[in-house]
Amino acid sequence: MQSHSMHDDMERVLFTHEQVQQRVKELGAEIARDYGDKDPHLITILKGSIPFLADLMRAMDRPLSLDVMAVASYAGHQSSGEVRVTKDLDESIEGRHVLVVEDIIDTGLTLAYVMRILANRAPASVRIATFLDKPSRRATPIEADYVGFTIPNAFAVGYGLDWNQRYRNLPYIGALKREIYDPGAG
Ligand code: IMP
Repeated sequence: MQSHSMHDDMERVLFTHEQVQQRVKELGAEIARDYGDKDPHLITILKGSIPFLADLMRAMDRPLSLDVMAVASYAGHQSSGEVRVTKDLDESIEGRHVLVVEDIIDTGLTLAYVMRILANRAPASVRIATFLDKPSRRATPIEADYVGFTIPNAFAVGYGLDWNQRYRNLPYIGALKREIYDPGAG
């Protein structure tokens, strides 16, 4: 049976696989330099950040450590950004130089909430690296220290980013056709 191609659901390609790889290499080198003699402790929020994390850490030619957490939005509370930690970190972050590795910052509400949780655990520092940034959608003032690409208000998929769990495995970043994620529109 011929399966439906994921590629046909793209309005356009925002960043090719080559552009993504090139940018993540640059970002990794920049971050590795900035941390000097302080080993960064990478914390990623599952699951969209997995490909970015995997490439970014290999572009950082220096000692580092890694931990992961998972969060879920409370049903009906999306607008508050209040989240529930469904998988907490394995290790204490007290006194460590934390680098939060995110896939995308949209309204910023989820990350703002996670940042409050982390700040309460007495890290030495916390910085944010996000692969994509959609600043036009921000609902709370939060900025990343490192940004892969800034994008307009499109629904981006691929390289870990999903829509209903699909498209995460695309090697490029595509803008999903509006009729897919918003069938009622226009
Ligand atoms: P925020 O709290 O609005 O910043 O939501 C961030 C989360 O929403 C991200 O970690 C993604 O899981 C999801 N998200 C926001 N925009 C997009 C997008 O364009 N494509 C895929 N997921 C997105």
